[in-house]
Amino acid sequence: MSKIILTGDRPTGRLHVGHYVGSLRRRVELQNSGEFDKIFIMIADAQALTDNADNPEKIRQNVIEVALDYLSVGLDPAKSNLFIQSQISELTELSFFYMNLVTVSRLQRNPTVKAEIQMRNFEASIPVGFFTYPISQASDITAFKATTVPVGEDQLPMLEQTKEIVRKFNSVYGETLVEPEILLPENAACLRLPGTDGKAKMSKSLGNCIYLSDTEEDVRTKVMSMYTDPDHIKITDPGKIEGNTVFTYLDAFSKPEHFAEFLPEYNNLDELKEHYQRGGLGDVKVKKFLNNVLQDELAPIRARRAEFEKDIPEVYNILKKGSDVAREAAAETLAEVKRAMKINYFEDRALIEEQSKKYQR
Ligand code: TRP
Repeated sequence: MSKIILTGDRPTGRLHVGHYVGSLRRRVELQNSGEFDKIFIMIADAQALTDNADNPEKIRQNVIEVALDYLSVGLDPAKSNLFIQSQISELTELSFFYMNLVTVSRLQRNPTVKAEIQMRNFEASIPVGFFTYPISQASDITAFKATTVPVGEDQLPMLEQTKEIVRKFNSVYGETLVEPEILLPENAACLRLPGTDGKAKMSKSLGNCIYLSDTEEDVRTKVMSMYTDPDHIKITDPGKIEGNTVFTYLDAFSKPEHFAEFLPEYNNLDELKEHYQRGGLGDVKVKKFLNNVLQDELAPIRARRAEFEKDIPEVYNILKKGSDVAREAAAETLAEVKRAMKINYFEDRALIEEQSKKYQR
């Protein structure tokens, strides 16, 4: 069986370092591993509209931002199809059929939907499109026969829902769809990178994100004002690592080479942590190190972005080409789905013959 990746992001804002360690970095590795037959990376504008229906301009503006972020981290259109969800009408058609296989109570039990309903104060006024987006996400994944979906932990309930739809479809209509596997980030810090203020969630409204497109100065300012251990007042005080954002970021970003290059008096992160916990290591020194580590990772991303920003029409062209390829793949699956569901009337010679015999006695 071919190995196929499908994943994506809602274009509701520029992508930040949480997206990077949570998924983007891994996608680039997978892309370059050569282990996958096809890779589809989707800008989920239609899904973003399910809770931004009154603000289409925001989504429209962010499609290009996300595309630039994708290209700047090293997603390569020669290896990965970058496309825009709304341009693949086959996806909505699949959703319409999958809706028959999912109950309202099952959607209400979906933890992501449940949490988002609360967060957005939707309660009974939830738009039907938003309520059913797990079904649309199942269409995104199955349309491409994805075997592997590299996403953050928050997407687990969506993958569960997708698997259920696949099993149900295959058991009712015969083996047609492929059950996907989720691929989670490798370590806990990457699973859920906190905001620079130490809050669990990075969000634009809280102003606690480091964006991939931030300037060098922005990154430095944000790092130097990061939340650490509030009880670590004097340098000689013993410090706490747990819940200390600077160390969480180091867990997510630092590599052994960074120590040799920027902080040679320590061999590795464990030694640095140990010194901090013992006392005698100041926050400023650790923050300066983190800043060096982040700049090292982000500088090539920033440079690639600047190149792509010079030719925006070409970026749209990449998305258009990717969308054409994606549409073709989705159309193939949709045809198989229709065949399995016996709604392929005009290509079914046997059906036409059977019906004519019935009436020609
Ligand atoms: N729900 C994802 C997010 O909020 C975006 C998305 C839509 C997606 N369809 C998908 C991710 C299919 C993986 C697979 O970021």
